[in-house]
Amino acid sequence: MSDALRFVDITEDQLDAVMRVRARSFGVMAAGDREQWLKDARVFIQDGRYVGVADGDEVVAAARFWDFEQWWSGRPVRMAGVAGVVVAPEYRGRGVGSKLMRGVLQRAVDKGFPLTGLYPATTVIYRHLGYEFGGGRYRFSFPAADLRSLGGKEVAVRRAGPDDAERFLELAGQSHTRRRTSGPLVWPIKEVKEWLADEENFAYLAEDGFVVYNWSGSDLCVDELVAGSDATARALWATVGSGSSIASTVQAYISPDDPLHLLVEHEAYKDVQHQRWMLRLLDAPAAIAARGFAPDVAVEADLRIDDPDVPANTGDWHLSVADGVGRLTPTEASGDVLQLGPRGLAALYAGTPVATLQGAGLVSGRPAAELDTVFASATPYMLDYF
Ligand SMILES: CC(C)(COP(=O)(O)OP(=O)(O)OC[C@H]1O[C@@H](n2cnc3c(N)ncnc32)[C@H](O)[C@@H]1OP(=O)(O)O)[C@@H](O)C(=O)NCCC(=O)NCCS
Repeated sequence: MSDALRFVDITEDQLDAVMRVRARSFGVMAAGDREQWLKDARVFIQDGRYVGVADGDEVVAAARFWDFEQWWSGRPVRMAGVAGVVVAPEYRGRGVGSKLMRGVLQRAVDKGFPLTGLYPATTVIYRHLGYEFGGGRYRFSFPAADLRSLGGKEVAVRRAGPDDAERFLELAGQSHTRRRTSGPLVWPIKEVKEWLADEENFAYLAEDGFVVYNWSGSDLCVDELVAGSDATARALWATVGSGSSIASTVQAYISPDDPLHLLVEHEAYKDVQHQRWMLRLLDAPAAIAARGFAPDVAVEADLRIDDPDVPANTGDWHLSVADGVGRLTPTEASGDVLQLGPRGLAALYAGTPVATLQGAGLVSGRPAAELDTVFASATPYMLDYF
């Protein structure tokens, strides 16, 4: 790699150059999307979350990251959501992407994010840097007529808009806390308002729930549905299903554990879409402290973490979980302990059984099946692509 390559903060006057690299990576952006893209890009720039690699003055690679929170076992944890990773074709395969991503990791560490996540277009580069699969984004589809007949007519449902954004976030938070959800993102309120203001989205609010859906070709598609009771779930799904005379199918981004699977008469169609996302711990003690744990599980265990790209994670640690709270504290090296790198740590955090990690060579040393119960949660899922 040339010595002239430097990790840089993207500046406004470099956005045209970034766009040229993007066009060669993801396709040429429609002219109508350009203004919005530039507007969004400026927010990332202002907050030091748009970075790149330059060869001399020319930007040849770029990436940005969102300031999200992500629910982990019913508690929100700050997560740097990496997106738009692009390297100019003539610079690919020479370590530029890795240099860029190392810079992203360092910037996210400096900004205090305990976690980072991303949707990989290719897993190789991210695995080399310590990311591993953490969960999936699932799209199920159902016969609209099945949803229409779910009932819930006694529940009042009204149209909603951008002024309801805070209430939507509050209801989603209550639902994720109650269900000890893992995976869903909390978007900045500005994005939630824009989502609810978009004329293409149809939003409805009940006292303890909401739904947002839109057209997807000739189908209807549910972006998100939250319900505090089965009556509200029935009412909101039936609101969407009421379109069954025109749309025969309703697609829905929901968890594989969503109550809808147990409410509808027929199972979802077999055309389930499943897209995996990856996770990485940037600050292991902070990530453990922020995450939820089931109130009735406890463990005391020593671990050895080896994390070459985030050295502060490396060392001998004692994990203590009790009363729904976890702590990771430095400890003296002891004999036969569970040893893991960042990929094993990320997958363990996301609830992957230790036996699976052993089977993939991601952990070694003492078998520690007792960790399965503390890290277990409902299947981690996301609703949104970013
Ligand atoms: C993916 C991308 C960012 C990688 O950048 P890069 O500069 O080529 O990456 P590096 O040279 O640092 O490669 C790092 C590792 O990833 C591997 N890798 C890179 N691109 C790969 C691909 N498309 N398929 C499989 N492996 C790939 C490299 O072989 C290398 O692994 P190795 O050291 O074991 O050989 C770049 O190819 C790109 O911009 N692609 C188009 C846009 C895209 O897909 N972005 C990712 C969105 S999540």
